[in-house]
Amino acid sequence: MPLTRALPALVASTGPGSFDRMPELIRPTVSLRDSWLASRDEWGRDVQQYGSGLHPEDDVDTAAGFSAWVRRLIDEGDVCVPAAPGRVHADYWWIVEDDTYLGCITLRHALNDFLLRAGGHVGYGVRPSARGRGHAAWALRSILPRARELGLERLLLTCADDNPASARTIENVGGTLEDVRETELGLTRRYWVTT
Ligand SMILES: CC(C)(COP(=O)(O)OP(=O)(O)OC[C@H]1O[C@@H](n2cnc3c(N)ncnc32)[C@H](O)[C@@H]1OP(=O)(O)O)[C@@H](O)C(=O)NCCC(=O)NCCS
Repeated sequence: MPLTRALPALVASTGPGSFDRMPELIRPTVSLRDSWLASRDEWGRDVQQYGSGLHPEDDVDTAAGFSAWVRRLIDEGDVCVPAAPGRVHADYWWIVEDDTYLGCITLRHALNDFLLRAGGHVGYGVRPSARGRGHAAWALRSILPRARELGLERLLLTCADDNPASARTIENVGGTLEDVRETELGLTRRYWVTT
């Protein structure tokens, strides 16, 4: 069975949380399209959503386009499907609460030159109305077992030097700062998190 097909739909919560309701990590699904679109509109239509796997050419406003995008996200984690040129395999999850989409997190299975320099193993984003409750740190902790399963003993986490919310998220999960360097993404903080 392909590795991603063997992934559980839900990832158990790990670490402390201060949530009124428990969030869950689920695989991307067309069933949350309306909620995802509401979140997209909160971000702004042309705003880059970190860790979402959304490309400018994805047509998420049609049911067929949304479905094709979700299919691609699932396929990107399937090691039986060759990765697109210049890309590595990646697992995508959505952070949800009941049937509400809150954000996303992605775990790249390997680092290429760009990812080692600037992008890192993980991307994440939380919709503006759901921020301030530590969902990103919770999601990051929750995917560490999957990273171990992939044989990744430590993960490279990066963020812009002027993104304190992301830097704090990484530090809250025990990230150790390796360096702050100029990259094609600007001045970038590079941390390692032990899985
Ligand atoms: C980064 C992001 C995912 C964090 O969302 P979140 O999980 O809701 O994070 P929170 O708002 O709970 O904040 C996390 C930590 O950062 C701190 N923080 C948040 N904004 C901050 C700011 N402007 N200055 C300093 N610290 C800040 C919080 O106090 C919290 O730290 P604490 O738990 O030690 O108190 C969210 O801000 C986001 O989606 N940003 C846009 C996309 C992005 O930057 N993704 C990461 C790319 S590397």
